[in-house]
Amino acid sequence: MTVKPKLELTWIGKETRPRLEPRILIEDPTKSHHATHRVTEDDLFDNKLIFGDNLLALKALEAEYAGKVKCIFIDPPYNTGSAFAHYDDGVEHSIWLGLMRDRLELIKRLLADDGSLWITIDDNECHYLKVLCDEVFGRKNFVVNVLWQKRTSPDARLPIGDAHDHILLYANNREKFSLNKLGLTDDQRNAFKNPDNDPKGPWTSTDFTAQGWRPNQMYKITSPGGIVYEPPQSRCWANIESEYRRLRIENRLWFGKDSSARPRVKNYLSEHEGVRAWSWWTNSEVGHNQEAKKEIIELFGADTFDTPKPERLLYRVLQLATNPGDLVLDSFAGSGTTGAIAQKMGRRWIMVELGEHCHTHIIPRIKKVIDGQDPGGITEAVGWKGGGGFRYYKLAPSLLEKDKWGNWVINKEYNAAMLAEALCKLEGFTYAPSETEYYIHGHSTETDYIWVTTQNLGHEQLAA
Ligand SMILES: C[S@@+](CC[C@H](N)C(=O)[O-])C[C@H]1O[C@@H](n2cnc3c(N)ncnc32)[C@H](O)[C@@H]1O
Repeated sequence: MTVKPKLELTWIGKETRPRLEPRILIEDPTKSHHATHRVTEDDLFDNKLIFGDNLLALKALEAEYAGKVKCIFIDPPYNTGSAFAHYDDGVEHSIWLGLMRDRLELIKRLLADDGSLWITIDDNECHYLKVLCDEVFGRKNFVVNVLWQKRTSPDARLPIGDAHDHILLYANNREKFSLNKLGLTDDQRNAFKNPDNDPKGPWTSTDFTAQGWRPNQMYKITSPGGIVYEPPQSRCWANIESEYRRLRIENRLWFGKDSSARPRVKNYLSEHEGVRAWSWWTNSEVGHNQEAKKEIIELFGADTFDTPKPERLLYRVLQLATNPGDLVLDSFAGSGTTGAIAQKMGRRWIMVELGEHCHTHIIPRIKKVIDGQDPGGITEAVGWKGGGGFRYYKLAPSLLEKDKWGNWVINKEYNAAMLAEALCKLEGFTYAPSETEYYIHGHSTETDYIWVTTQNLGHEQLAA
């Protein structure tokens, strides 16, 4: 038996993995926000904004959300060495890889079987991150590296100005994964014309030939103007003769204005199912960094966040990867672009942010979106009028702490309800305290219950 050598990225500290406690999330209702009234029947209220470190937050989400998230978009610090106003973007390469690996492993568990992960990154770490993601997701689940043209002009400080970021796309399971098609752009729509007043409406046309020589596609075609055509050299007609006749009867072939040109097939705007995306995303289609900055200025009255992504970029990602009602997660939320776009597109969302801008940027931004007071970004294009809401959570402290004698004891910050919820989580139960039976704090199946108490239990109680 031959053993294939295992090719993998190594780095100092790769073997070290954090031991993670699945913390509970504590809502602070004073920071949550809900629209005062329903705008549509589909308004989404149960979105989550979590303030805290995303490693612990992802772990906290695991029990409830494993296998349930349709699309995870992350825009992690690129590790460029820059010190931005809201976060530092430079740690040792090996530390960055370790941080990303730990998060990617949790992210994979949260993804639905048909879900996908999208990561924006630049040349500093992209190629290492690709190999790391191959290790976590499996090479066969790599879909594409999208190139996003993030700038409008080259950076004169560099020998070759970098015009693009990478967007690495991984499927959780390539066999179950598919993407939506994109709607047509205005330019693409304008290419459809109706020179013959076709009742099926405007159309564009494509050549009615195919490459190669297929005997049943080599017939003669006589145009309405009486010219006889054979397929061009080393090509055949696009379809067999019976299909050609059907197209002709249905007026789906175009022989030019004088009815004497070679046949072309009409493709109607009314029958168009959208276009498949490709891996080159221009700034005219999905925006650029300056556009994102402008959006921040419109929202906050000043350029208060260094590294936002443009709304149109997130719109493209969510258009391809999700449908209305799907759950979207961003665990490096920044100024909250992903949640804002998800809300405007009718997707459920969870965002995690560690920095204070969770309060100074994300909360006010999403409030504006919910209250219909954010006219910028994609609002007009999607006809967003406001509605829905979100709940704000922070991570509970660790369940155990050391007392003054060095013994592990239950953290004093835990009250009885928190303790019950935390133990449910640790033991794999769903926290659902019964309103009628005191001994039910949570359940695993319909017959297994959990009750949490700090009392000493006697024989009788245990038997009961
Ligand atoms: C590049 S920014 C994301 C920008 C975002 N896409 C936007 O449009 O505004 C990266 C963000 O990740 C956050 N971050 C970094 N490490 C984190 C961690 N361990 N947990 C949670 N957030 C983190 C940073 O504070 C920063 O806001």
